Amino acid sequence: MLGQNAVALGQITAYYNEKVQSRKLHVRNSIHMVSKIVAEILKDVEIQEPRFISTLIDNNGRYDGLYVHSPNEFEVILYLNQMGVFNFVDDGSIQGCAVLKLSDGRKRSMSLWVEFITASGYLSARKIRSRFQTLVSQAIEKSPYREYCKLVTDTSDVKLRIHDKYIVQITCAFRCNGIWPRSASQWPNVAVGWPNPAVIGEVKNEGFDLLSKEVYTQPPQQPQTPTKQPTSTMEGDAWAMCMTQAENILLSHPNRRKTLSILKCLRDSHLDYPASPITNYIIKTLVLYECEKHISDHEWYDICIGDRVIGVLLQLVSCLQCRKCPHYFLPQLDLLRGKPTHILDHAAKMSWNLLRQLMLNARALESL
Ligand code: CTP
Repeated sequence: MLGQNAVALGQITAYYNEKVQSRKLHVRNSIHMVSKIVAEILKDVEIQEPRFISTLIDNNGRYDGLYVHSPNEFEVILYLNQMGVFNFVDDGSIQGCAVLKLSDGRKRSMSLWVEFITASGYLSARKIRSRFQTLVSQAIEKSPYREYCKLVTDTSDVKLRIHDKYIVQITCAFRCNGIWPRSASQWPNVAVGWPNPAVIGEVKNEGFDLLSKEVYTQPPQQPQTPTKQPTSTMEGDAWAMCMTQAENILLSHPNRRKTLSILKCLRDSHLDYPASPITNYIIKTLVLYECEKHISDHEWYDICIGDRVIGVLLQLVSCLQCRKCPHYFLPQLDLLRGKPTHILDHAAKMSWNLLRQLMLNARALESL
């Protein structure tokens, strides 16, 4: 029978204490191993080019600026200095992206990043990334890790393959504290009543990061004609907005985090097959939507976590079936964009299969 609290509290507690904790430990160990290698490579990059200063820091056992995409996929953010002379332009022309334009009256030579500014005065994410990729490639060649640390070559993103098992993307970024992008101006929805004004202030003050990474853009519907120029140059120069820190503030409540950890563990174990479109970031996004549906802390008590897990998986199936998952803060950005229909249909089936087990069998977590 489908019903409330289909997943009993004891089952949630046991799953969290055993499987989730074991996932955390496993990921932590992998992070420590790969971070040592990445830190050495970044140290060498910094020697070659002092503008790229490593910001990967071991902060009491956790790494600042490192994100876990899956147990074998990590992203390290390298924060660049001195965005200073540029204006942040978020006009919505490239979903989820913004451009950095040289401020009026400022000379190129006033920027630390002078050679990466385009003829039209934009600081090019692509040019910076290309330079950084060359530096990383040279650092790997010289390093004692070169036998088992390779640069992934089929992308302009800077990605390392370590021990043929782990992928670590290193992404150059600018931190934009204290400003809130126009594309996120609809947040918060006052009708929702969550979070409280103090947290809203904290989130908006946190701002966002601008990342230099490949962004997916819709392929042209028709072959390009000489008169219809692709906008790819502009897209290459644009910076992807990333709001992870702001999201983490919203998810700082212990049981909301616990729910997310449980869902990540379920995803890694059951929904992380080759070509899966279901990322842990999509799961995190859906937890944020679940927070808006259940705004009171008491709806996240331990006894309710089973219902919240089921609620998020129901949203996941629905998103996959509708072929759309809007970014939490930047709703114009669809996190499922570009995914082929058959991949999304298969993912919906896999998610539904997991959800069905949780809803129909109160002891399902024992074997999941
Ligand atoms: N971790 C880390 N440094 C980071 C991120 C994660 O050392 N920047 C380690 C932590 O030990 C964490 C584990 O990797 O417990 C798994 O992280 P994650 O996949 O983000 O899972 P969560 O369940 O969200 O981890 P936590 O609740 O500990 O944040």
